[in-house]
Amino acid sequence: MAITYNDSERSFKLDTPKSSYVFKISPTGYLLHLYYGAYVPESDLDYLRMRLINASFSASVASPEEKGLSLDTAAIEYPVNGSGDFRVSALSIRGDNGSSVTDIRYASHRIYSGKPRLEGLPATYTNSDDEADTLELTCRDALTGAEVVLVYTVFTKLDAITRSVRVTNCSDKPFDIERIHSMALDFTESDFTLMHLQGRWAKERTLVKRHLQFGLQGIQSKRGSSSHNNNPFIALARDGYTEESGEVYGFSLVYSSNFEACVEVDCMRSTRVVMGINPVDFGWRLEPGESFTSPEVVMVFSAEGVGGMSRTYHKLYRYNLCRGEWKTKKRPIIINNWEGTYFNFDEEKLYAIAKDAAELGIEMLVMDDGWFGVRNSDNCSLGDWYVNENKLKGGLKSLVDRVNSLGLKFGIWFEPEMISPDSDLYRAHPDWCLHVDGRDRSIGRRQYVLDMSRADVRDNIFEQMSAILSSANIEYVKWDFNRNLTEVGSALLPPERQRETAHRYMLGVYELLERLLTAFPHLLLEGCSGGGGRFDAGMLYYSPQIWTSDDTDAMERLEIQYGTTLCYPPSAMSAHVSASPNHQTGRESSFKTRGDVAMAGAFGYELDLTKLNDEERELVKKQVADYHKYYDLIQNGDYYRLINPTEDKANPTCAAAWESVSADKNEVLLTYVVMRTQVSVSRYIRLVGLDPEKIYVDEATGRRYSGALLMNAGLNLTGSWHDGESKVWHLVVSC
Ligand code: GLA
Repeated sequence: MAITYNDSERSFKLDTPKSSYVFKISPTGYLLHLYYGAYVPESDLDYLRMRLINASFSASVASPEEKGLSLDTAAIEYPVNGSGDFRVSALSIRGDNGSSVTDIRYASHRIYSGKPRLEGLPATYTNSDDEADTLELTCRDALTGAEVVLVYTVFTKLDAITRSVRVTNCSDKPFDIERIHSMALDFTESDFTLMHLQGRWAKERTLVKRHLQFGLQGIQSKRGSSSHNNNPFIALARDGYTEESGEVYGFSLVYSSNFEACVEVDCMRSTRVVMGINPVDFGWRLEPGESFTSPEVVMVFSAEGVGGMSRTYHKLYRYNLCRGEWKTKKRPIIINNWEGTYFNFDEEKLYAIAKDAAELGIEMLVMDDGWFGVRNSDNCSLGDWYVNENKLKGGLKSLVDRVNSLGLKFGIWFEPEMISPDSDLYRAHPDWCLHVDGRDRSIGRRQYVLDMSRADVRDNIFEQMSAILSSANIEYVKWDFNRNLTEVGSALLPPERQRETAHRYMLGVYELLERLLTAFPHLLLEGCSGGGGRFDAGMLYYSPQIWTSDDTDAMERLEIQYGTTLCYPPSAMSAHVSASPNHQTGRESSFKTRGDVAMAGAFGYELDLTKLNDEERELVKKQVADYHKYYDLIQNGDYYRLINPTEDKANPTCAAAWESVSADKNEVLLTYVVMRTQVSVSRYIRLVGLDPEKIYVDEATGRRYSGALLMNAGLNLTGSWHDGESKVWHLVVSC
């Protein structure tokens, strides 16, 4: 068992291959955290307890048995509100007496193999019970009758521990959950750098680093979506860390709506992390007998730097979060018509693109926005999911059949959560969008948001979507979401439950996604939200790939993809070659560089193939061949970030570089891009993660290098480079 309980110490020890996590029960049932870090053999770690009694007017607990224990200074396993711990709390329950003072104590526990599902929520899972062990630890609040179950799952082959919390009302009166974080973690020190992925539309997930300071720091979303702005992922890297060495703790929330990740450094220089649903504008009424389950946080410990943390997330999310046949099945190379035609297409235009695609070896045509209702711009028709036969003459089936007969698969775009004011659906059901009576309805991209907390709304959308998906051989859906939530209220909820709307919305979306995948189990789903505005672990449970960004400029993508790989696997990062000059930035770049950069993710094209010249067509054929040749290496190999395109000071050569290494370390693919060239600059790059003993042959030149040489001296890339020029090396171990 990866989880053990020491009866005499009353302590729990959770072990992954290289990490240990230890906490204990105090004499009167408080849960005291003792350690999380590199593996240690001992389970008796009581001496590590923070025993400062009075840091700053700290109160101590009433019972003499606790010998003056102060909840304000001890490391607390799951801190609650109002009973002596003045730091940020994870749980606050308001009872029928109107008080939010909360106090939970240990009641019982259960340890078992495997991992439970989280009711109605996406979560990591096991493929077989021996992949994980679970601890369910039950605490009780005697006054409110709340039963609080802390759920920990320890993965036995990866350094990952998941956490979530389930609250049940065991009393005969309702109570309100005011905040419920999925996890809390106390460290006795604060010598960490906080990393997170910040952004905006067309510039998602840019890595930000800041050393911890006293007080509160962190990130949040109040947008009803995980958002372009802040991704639900943070890491704490202990001072002295590098990309490939030192201690790093990752925290990733498997959730796609309002979240908070908060880090507090207190007066003793100790650090607390909490992460979960954003308490702002949140509340949940629990009637007697009802339960509430929080989303899951996945904690990863790495002693191999930031890169080690990322590789653990990549493996876990690829094999224990993404589901269905597409998690391992080879993904088709896509041609998406959005940047090629925008709304201006008909069946002949799409067929012409498909014909060229087939000749070039591309495997699927995705018809993007504009095929339904009377939509020829973004000003109407969302919610009217029936084919515009004026545009697609002959109907959808005829087009799909023609595309299939070329040997291409067919995919389609939907934006299921939205409704245009100018739509038949809105005219029939003006109360189906999120709104608050008496308040204006804010508009975003000329659309409102459907109230997905309502079963009748979901039923309608499901029926419309399934009619389309059953009408032709459609094998892929791009599920888009192009605005954030405002006036978050539901016409069906009573006043005391209005603050539940945003979470109920998200549960409704998850339910609809599940329903769609159950009805169409072979569907490949691609997530999207104005690019990567909902690129999170929650969505990855349903869609194994997500459109990374609406910015398809190769230079911009370097930074976006760099940040994305901190937590998410390359197989999740949808990346397409688009036209030059780029439509978002106006920047020109070579077809080769665009291909080399897109090849780092789930590869495809996003341009009008009929406009390519002969040279570009040959390059597409080469890229298609490379995609097949390197597919396993890129999608299943270990990913190493070599040069951070964001860091100017640490990156004087203005380059970007990354590497994929096969599990047996026999094959390496290195990509190097010069973002901005300079005169008289030396360029060397040291490879990482190879076998020092093996001899690697550069496929292009036949030159042989030992792994030791490549890792210690590296390759000499000094020479003349153009702005935006890229080069790829394939190195294979000689037999
Ligand atoms: C979003 C997506 C794009 C495209 C458009 C269509 O912006 O990110 O890829 O699908 O919507 O309106």
